[in-house]
Amino acid sequence: MSSNTTRRATALIALATSLIALMAPVSKTMAGDAVRGSQLGQTCLGCHGAPGLRNPSPVFEVPMIGGQHAEYIVAALKAYKDKTRPHPTMRAQAASLSDQDMEDIAAFFSKMDGNSRPGAASAELIAEGEKKAAPCAACHGKTGDGPSPTFPKLAGQYASYLTHSLKEYRSGERQNIIMSGQSANLTIEDIKALSAYFASQQGGLSAPQAEIFK
Ligand code: HEC
Ligand code: HEC
Repeated sequence: MSSNTTRRATALIALATSLIALMAPVSKTMAGDAVRGSQLGQTCLGCHGAPGLRNPSPVFEVPMIGGQHAEYIVAALKAYKDKTRPHPTMRAQAASLSDQDMEDIAAFFSKMDGNSRPGAASAELIAEGEKKAAPCAACHGKTGDGPSPTFPKLAGQYASYLTHSLKEYRSGERQNIIMSGQSANLTIEDIKALSAYFASQQGGLSAPQAEIFK
Protein backbone atom coordinates (compact mmCIF):
# COMPACT_ATOMS: atom_id res chain seq x y z
CA MET A 1 0.00 0.00 0.00
CA SER A 2 1.37 3.45 -0.91
CA SER A 3 1.59 5.93 1.93
CA ASN A 4 -1.00 8.02 0.12
CA THR A 5 -3.50 5.16 0.16
CA THR A 6 -2.67 4.45 3.79
CA ARG A 7 -3.27 8.07 4.69
CA ARG A 8 -6.56 8.06 2.83
CA ALA A 9 -7.61 4.84 4.55
CA THR A 10 -6.67 6.24 7.96
CA ALA A 11 -8.64 9.40 7.23
CA LEU A 12 -11.65 7.30 6.20
CA ILE A 13 -11.48 5.23 9.37
CA ALA A 14 -11.27 8.44 11.43
CA LEU A 15 -14.28 9.83 9.59
CA ALA A 16 -16.25 6.62 10.07
CA THR A 17 -15.36 6.55 13.79
CA SER A 18 -16.51 10.12 14.32
CA LEU A 19 -19.71 9.41 12.40
CA ILE A 20 -20.42 6.41 14.62
CA ALA A 21 -19.69 8.55 17.68
CA LEU A 22 -22.14 11.15 16.40
CA MET A 23 -24.82 8.57 15.73
CA ALA A 24 -24.51 6.66 19.00
CA PRO A 25 -26.24 9.21 21.25
CA VAL A 26 -29.01 9.59 18.68
CA SER A 27 -29.98 5.93 18.71
CA LYS A 28 -29.63 5.87 22.49
CA THR A 29 -32.10 8.73 22.97
CA MET A 30 -34.68 6.88 20.84
CA ALA A 31 -35.50 4.28 23.50
CA GLY A 32 -38.52 5.53 25.41
CA ASP A 33 -38.24 6.03 29.18
CA ALA A 34 -41.68 5.21 30.61
CA VAL A 35 -40.91 6.73 34.02
CA ARG A 36 -40.02 10.10 32.54
CA GLY A 37 -43.01 9.66 30.21
CA SER A 38 -45.33 9.27 33.19
CA GLN A 39 -44.25 12.70 34.46
CA LEU A 40 -44.63 14.37 31.07
CA GLY A 41 -47.93 12.53 30.53
CA GLN A 42 -49.66 14.09 33.54
CA THR A 43 -50.73 17.06 31.46
CA CYS A 44 -52.48 14.74 28.98
CA LEU A 45 -54.75 13.20 31.63
CA GLY A 46 -57.14 16.14 31.79
CA CYS A 47 -58.55 14.98 28.46
CA HIS A 48 -57.30 11.45 27.68
CA GLY A 49 -57.83 10.24 31.25
CA ALA A 50 -61.43 11.39 31.41
CA PRO A 51 -63.52 8.56 29.93
CA GLY A 52 -66.19 9.83 27.59
CA LEU A 53 -64.94 13.43 27.51
CA ARG A 54 -66.04 15.03 24.27
CA ASN A 55 -64.35 17.29 21.80
CA PRO A 56 -66.71 20.25 21.49
CA SER A 57 -66.73 20.79 17.72
CA PRO A 58 -67.09 18.51 15.86
CA VAL A 59 -68.46 16.42 18.72
CA PHE A 60 -66.61 13.13 19.28
CA GLU A 61 -65.05 11.41 22.26
CA VAL A 62 -61.39 12.11 23.02
CA PRO A 63 -59.55 8.99 21.77
CA MET A 64 -58.22 6.34 24.10
CA ILE A 65 -54.44 6.26 23.94
CA GLY A 66 -53.69 3.85 26.84
CA GLY A 67 -52.38 0.60 25.32
CA GLN A 68 -51.95 2.12 21.85
CA HIS A 69 -48.80 1.12 19.91
CA ALA A 70 -45.85 3.33 20.93
CA GLU A 71 -44.67 3.78 17.36
CA TYR A 72 -48.09 5.04 16.30
CA ILE A 73 -48.34 7.45 19.28
CA VAL A 74 -45.00 8.99 18.26
CA ALA A 75 -46.13 9.24 14.62
CA ALA A 76 -49.38 10.94 15.72
CA LEU A 77 -47.58 13.46 17.94
CA LYS A 78 -45.12 14.27 15.13
CA ALA A 79 -48.03 14.76 12.72
CA TYR A 80 -49.61 17.30 15.10
CA LYS A 81 -46.28 19.04 15.63
CA ASP A 82 -45.55 19.37 11.90
CA LYS A 83 -49.22 20.31 11.35
CA THR A 84 -50.11 17.47 8.97
CA ARG A 85 -52.88 16.57 11.43
CA PRO A 86 -55.36 19.40 11.88
CA HIS A 87 -56.60 19.37 15.49
CA PRO A 88 -55.62 22.78 17.04
CA THR A 89 -55.47 21.66 20.71
CA MET A 90 -53.29 18.66 19.91
CA ARG A 91 -51.03 20.82 17.74
CA ALA A 92 -50.52 23.07 20.76
CA GLN A 93 -49.91 20.02 23.02
CA ALA A 94 -47.28 18.57 20.67
CA ALA A 95 -45.59 21.83 19.68
CA SER A 96 -43.16 21.93 22.60
CA LEU A 97 -42.40 18.18 22.77
CA SER A 98 -38.97 17.01 21.62
CA ASP A 99 -38.53 13.66 19.85
CA GLN A 100 -37.26 12.25 23.14
CA ASP A 101 -40.31 13.55 25.03
CA MET A 102 -42.55 11.85 22.46
CA GLU A 103 -40.69 8.53 22.78
CA ASP A 104 -40.94 8.67 26.59
CA ILE A 105 -44.64 9.58 26.61
CA ALA A 106 -45.34 6.83 24.06
CA ALA A 107 -43.42 4.25 26.12
CA PHE A 108 -45.56 5.15 29.10
CA PHE A 109 -49.01 5.12 27.47
CA SER A 110 -48.31 2.04 25.35
CA LYS A 111 -47.46 -0.06 28.42
CA MET A 112 -50.93 0.42 29.90
CA ASP A 113 -53.45 -2.38 29.99
CA GLY A 114 -56.61 -2.17 27.98
CA ASN A 115 -59.94 -1.76 29.70
CA SER A 116 -61.94 -0.65 26.73
CA ARG A 117 -65.67 -0.33 27.08
CA PRO A 118 -67.21 -1.74 23.95
CA GLY A 119 -69.77 0.57 22.37
CA ALA A 120 -73.50 0.07 22.61
CA ALA A 121 -74.33 -0.22 18.91
CA SER A 122 -77.02 -2.61 17.66
CA ALA A 123 -76.02 -6.19 16.79
CA GLU A 124 -77.21 -5.59 13.24
CA LEU A 125 -74.98 -2.57 12.69
CA ILE A 126 -72.00 -4.43 14.18
CA ALA A 127 -72.62 -7.43 11.88
CA GLU A 128 -72.85 -5.10 8.89
CA GLY A 129 -69.55 -3.47 9.91
CA GLU A 130 -67.87 -6.84 10.27
CA LYS A 131 -68.64 -7.65 6.62
CA LYS A 132 -67.20 -4.33 5.47
CA ALA A 133 -64.11 -4.70 7.66
CA ALA A 134 -62.49 -7.51 5.63
CA PRO A 135 -60.14 -5.16 3.69
CA CYS A 136 -58.99 -3.52 6.94
CA ALA A 137 -57.75 -6.76 8.47
CA ALA A 138 -54.48 -6.89 6.54
CA CYS A 139 -53.17 -3.91 8.51
CA HIS A 140 -55.34 -3.43 11.60
CA GLY A 141 -56.00 -7.12 12.35
CA LYS A 142 -59.38 -8.84 12.06
CA THR A 143 -60.81 -7.22 15.20
CA GLY A 144 -58.70 -4.05 15.00
CA ASP A 145 -56.31 -5.26 17.69
CA GLY A 146 -53.43 -6.06 15.32
CA PRO A 147 -49.82 -6.43 16.45
CA SER A 148 -48.13 -4.24 13.84
CA PRO A 149 -46.78 -1.09 15.59
CA THR A 150 -47.33 1.31 12.68
CA PHE A 151 -51.05 0.53 12.34
CA PRO A 152 -53.12 1.97 15.20
CA LYS A 153 -55.30 -0.30 17.29
CA LEU A 154 -58.98 0.30 16.60
CA ALA A 155 -60.53 -2.39 18.83
CA GLY A 156 -62.55 -0.84 21.64
CA GLN A 157 -61.82 2.73 20.50
CA TYR A 158 -64.75 5.14 20.74
CA ALA A 159 -67.02 4.78 17.70
CA SER A 160 -67.46 8.56 17.54
CA TYR A 161 -63.67 9.04 17.26
CA LEU A 162 -63.32 6.31 14.59
CA THR A 163 -66.09 7.97 12.58
CA HIS A 164 -64.46 11.37 12.96
CA SER A 165 -61.09 9.97 11.78
CA LEU A 166 -62.53 8.18 8.75
CA LYS A 167 -64.41 11.32 7.71
CA GLU A 168 -61.22 13.35 8.04
CA TYR A 169 -59.24 10.91 5.89
CA ARG A 170 -62.03 10.86 3.32
CA SER A 171 -62.15 14.67 3.11
CA GLY A 172 -58.36 15.01 3.05
CA GLU A 173 -58.27 17.10 6.24
CA ARG A 174 -56.14 14.35 7.78
CA GLN A 175 -53.50 13.27 5.35
CA ASN A 176 -52.29 9.73 5.03
CA ILE A 177 -51.71 8.13 1.69
CA ILE A 178 -52.88 4.67 2.77
CA MET A 179 -55.99 5.74 4.67
CA SER A 180 -56.99 8.29 2.09
CA GLY A 181 -57.22 5.40 -0.40
CA GLN A 182 -58.98 3.13 2.09
CA SER A 183 -61.64 5.71 2.96
CA ALA A 184 -62.19 7.30 -0.46
CA ASN A 185 -65.15 5.12 -1.46
CA LEU A 186 -66.78 4.69 1.94
CA THR A 187 -70.29 6.09 2.36
CA ILE A 188 -71.33 7.59 5.70
CA GLU A 189 -73.32 4.37 6.32
CA ASP A 190 -70.16 2.30 5.73
CA ILE A 191 -68.25 4.55 8.15
CA LYS A 192 -70.91 4.23 10.86
CA ALA A 193 -71.01 0.41 10.50
CA LEU A 194 -67.21 0.04 10.48
CA SER A 195 -66.90 2.29 13.53
CA ALA A 196 -69.59 0.33 15.40
CA TYR A 197 -67.84 -2.94 14.58
CA PHE A 198 -64.35 -1.94 15.69
CA ALA A 199 -65.62 -0.08 18.77
CA SER A 200 -67.44 -3.22 19.90
CA GLN A 201 -64.35 -5.45 19.78
CA GLN A 202 -62.36 -6.34 22.86
CA GLY A 203 -58.93 -4.81 22.60
CA GLY A 204 -55.97 -3.28 24.29
CA LEU A 205 -57.03 0.36 24.44
CA SER A 206 -57.97 2.30 27.54
CA ALA A 207 -58.60 5.81 28.75
CA PRO A 208 -55.64 6.08 31.14
CA GLN A 209 -56.79 6.69 34.70
CA ALA A 210 -55.05 8.74 37.33
CA GLU A 211 -54.42 5.75 39.60
CA ILE A 212 -52.32 4.07 36.90
CA PHE A 213 -49.85 6.95 37.16
CA LYS A 214 -48.41 5.97 40.58
C1 HEC B 1 -57.58 19.55 25.83
C2 HEC B 1 -57.70 18.13 25.66
C3 HEC B 1 -56.44 17.33 25.30
C4 HEC B 1 -55.22 17.34 25.94
C5 HEC B 1 -54.79 18.15 27.16
C6 HEC B 1 -54.40 16.37 25.23
N1 HEC B 1 -55.10 15.80 24.21
FE1 HEC B 1 -54.42 14.41 22.90
N2 HEC B 1 -56.15 14.50 21.85
C7 HEC B 1 -57.24 15.29 22.19
C8 HEC B 1 -58.24 15.19 21.12
C9 HEC B 1 -59.58 15.89 21.09
C10 HEC B 1 -57.70 14.32 20.14
C11 HEC B 1 -58.27 13.95 18.78
C12 HEC B 1 -57.72 14.98 17.80
C13 HEC B 1 -57.91 14.68 16.35
O1 HEC B 1 -59.05 14.56 15.91
O2 HEC B 1 -56.91 14.56 15.63
C14 HEC B 1 -56.39 13.90 20.64
C15 HEC B 1 -55.54 13.03 19.97
C16 HEC B 1 -54.36 12.54 20.48
C17 HEC B 1 -53.57 11.50 19.87
C18 HEC B 1 -53.91 10.74 18.61
C19 HEC B 1 -54.72 9.53 18.97
C20 HEC B 1 -55.01 8.66 17.79
O3 HEC B 1 -55.59 7.57 18.00
O4 HEC B 1 -54.66 9.01 16.67
C21 HEC B 1 -52.48 11.30 20.68
C22 HEC B 1 -51.35 10.29 20.46
C23 HEC B 1 -52.58 12.24 21.77
N3 HEC B 1 -53.73 12.97 21.63
C24 HEC B 1 -51.63 12.36 22.77
C25 HEC B 1 -51.68 13.36 23.75
C26 HEC B 1 -50.60 13.62 24.66
C27 HEC B 1 -49.31 12.82 24.72
C28 HEC B 1 -50.98 14.69 25.43
C29 HEC B 1 -50.19 15.37 26.53
C30 HEC B 1 -48.89 15.87 26.16
C31 HEC B 1 -52.32 15.07 24.99
N4 HEC B 1 -52.70 14.25 23.96
C32 HEC B 1 -53.08 16.08 25.56
C33 HEC B 1 -57.38 16.04 23.33
C34 HEC B 1 -56.36 16.36 24.21
C1 HEC C 1 -52.58 -1.00 4.06
C2 HEC C 1 -52.76 -0.81 5.49
C3 HEC C 1 -54.11 -0.30 5.98
C4 HEC C 1 -55.37 -0.75 5.63
C5 HEC C 1 -55.75 -1.87 4.66
C6 HEC C 1 -56.30 0.02 6.45
N1 HEC C 1 -55.62 0.90 7.24
FE1 HEC C 1 -56.46 2.19 8.59
N2 HEC C 1 -54.59 2.93 9.03
C7 HEC C 1 -53.42 2.54 8.44
C8 HEC C 1 -52.35 3.43 8.88
C9 HEC C 1 -50.89 3.37 8.44
C10 HEC C 1 -52.94 4.36 9.76
C11 HEC C 1 -52.25 5.53 10.48
C12 HEC C 1 -52.30 6.71 9.55
C13 HEC C 1 -51.96 8.03 10.20
O1 HEC C 1 -50.89 8.15 10.77
O2 HEC C 1 -52.82 8.93 10.14
C14 HEC C 1 -54.34 4.01 9.85
C15 HEC C 1 -55.27 4.71 10.62
C16 HEC C 1 -56.61 4.39 10.72
C17 HEC C 1 -57.55 5.08 11.59
C18 HEC C 1 -57.23 6.20 12.56
C19 HEC C 1 -57.03 5.62 13.94
C20 HEC C 1 -56.67 6.63 14.99
O3 HEC C 1 -56.42 6.20 16.13
O4 HEC C 1 -56.66 7.83 14.71
C21 HEC C 1 -58.77 4.48 11.39
C22 HEC C 1 -60.07 4.83 12.07
C23 HEC C 1 -58.59 3.44 10.39
N3 HEC C 1 -57.27 3.42 10.00
C24 HEC C 1 -59.60 2.62 9.93
C25 HEC C 1 -59.45 1.72 8.86
C26 HEC C 1 -60.55 1.01 8.26
C27 HEC C 1 -62.00 1.09 8.71
C28 HEC C 1 -60.02 0.25 7.24
C29 HEC C 1 -60.74 -0.65 6.27
C30 HEC C 1 -61.81 -0.04 5.50
C31 HEC C 1 -58.57 0.49 7.24
N4 HEC C 1 -58.28 1.39 8.22
C32 HEC C 1 -57.69 -0.11 6.37
C33 HEC C 1 -53.26 1.47 7.58
C34 HEC C 1 -54.28 0.75 6.98
